[in-house]
Amino acid sequence: MDKVILSGIKPTDAPHIGNYIGMIRPALQLAAAHKNVYLFNADYHALNMMRDPKALKHHSYQIAACFLALGLDPGKTVFYNQSDIPEIFELTQMLCSVTPKGLMDRAHSYKASVDKNREEGRDVDADINMGLYTYPILMTADILVAQAELIPVGKDQVQHVEFARDIAGYFNNTFSPVFKLPEYKLEETGGAILPGLDGRKMSKSYGNHIPVFMDSKARRKLVMKIVTDSKLPAESKNPDDNVIFQLYSHFAGSNEVAAMRADFERGGMGYGDAKQKLFEALELTFEKPTQLYNDYMADTRKIDELLAAGAEKARKVARETLSAAREAVGLKALR
Ligand code: ADP
Ligand code: TRP
Repeated sequence: MDKVILSGIKPTDAPHIGNYIGMIRPALQLAAAHKNVYLFNADYHALNMMRDPKALKHHSYQIAACFLALGLDPGKTVFYNQSDIPEIFELTQMLCSVTPKGLMDRAHSYKASVDKNREEGRDVDADINMGLYTYPILMTADILVAQAELIPVGKDQVQHVEFARDIAGYFNNTFSPVFKLPEYKLEETGGAILPGLDGRKMSKSYGNHIPVFMDSKARRKLVMKIVTDSKLPAESKNPDDNVIFQLYSHFAGSNEVAAMRADFERGGMGYGDAKQKLFEALELTFEKPTQLYNDYMADTRKIDELLAAGAEKARKVARETLSAAREAVGLKALR
């Protein structure tokens, strides 16, 4: 039987082209090529940082419309909202009982928040809620409840999948082997991290991102905002420390990428020209799906229907897994 493949994405904002290259495109490629694929909107994960209920709802629709517009087939892929699968939350509580606190203390994302507080001279736990602290356990439950074995993610999520594997192992060794052990799968390019407009990692939280879906005018305006140094067009430039080139290399064909590299190195390629080329490559990739995306966003009832049907399929599997886990620890099986 085909391995179960699963991935999710948080609805904290509209998806950006870093999410697209790091997670969405590889997940869609796997979804097209395999049978047992689960993709979901990780809305409870987003709740750790979102305080505006309208925004949470809106971004959830944006995530769903994004996958659908880019070609996800909801008849083939199990596609749902995390919050529609209550079994995930019961399993999270069960997994808490076998997860050492020290494992959570070692999580990169939690440590980064603590370090930031320390640097800023604040209390180390300022603005860190328990949801953020136990985030890897919820993510483990997302994965294990579907008995997923292959998890396509960007590089920053690798540690979380390793934790999921560890926690599954603790449970299996403590009770009985209920869970499959998941592995991560990085995008073919080795998990490239796309830089944002300012050269830091492209991230919704830095506000330096280029959304996947936007009208052409706004897209062009954003691309023109990419920060560059002040080298003149005639000067030779190193393409490898240049945001425009790095983004271009993900969206243009290999001949075009080689040509831009050569032009930068030789001198004669100005940043303005390169930005125009990047804009055109992005247009070519996203212009058509944008129409479909706008259609879904204009009538979200279709999205609701598709997600409800997906949740029904996901819950069947989730119930079986949860029931087996309940029995394994000495609770009643579900009937
Ligand atoms: P953000 O940092 O914008 O909030 P998330 O943490 O929600 O993004 O990440 C969602 C998915 O997109 C993850 O699988 C992550 O690895 C991937 N991803 C996020 N930012 C980038 C980036 N700049 N380049 C490549 N992949 C990324
Ligand atoms: N934590 C992931 C992120 O921030 C999203 C996510 C939640 C996820 N649960 C998952 C990814 C399960 C893969 C599998 O991007």
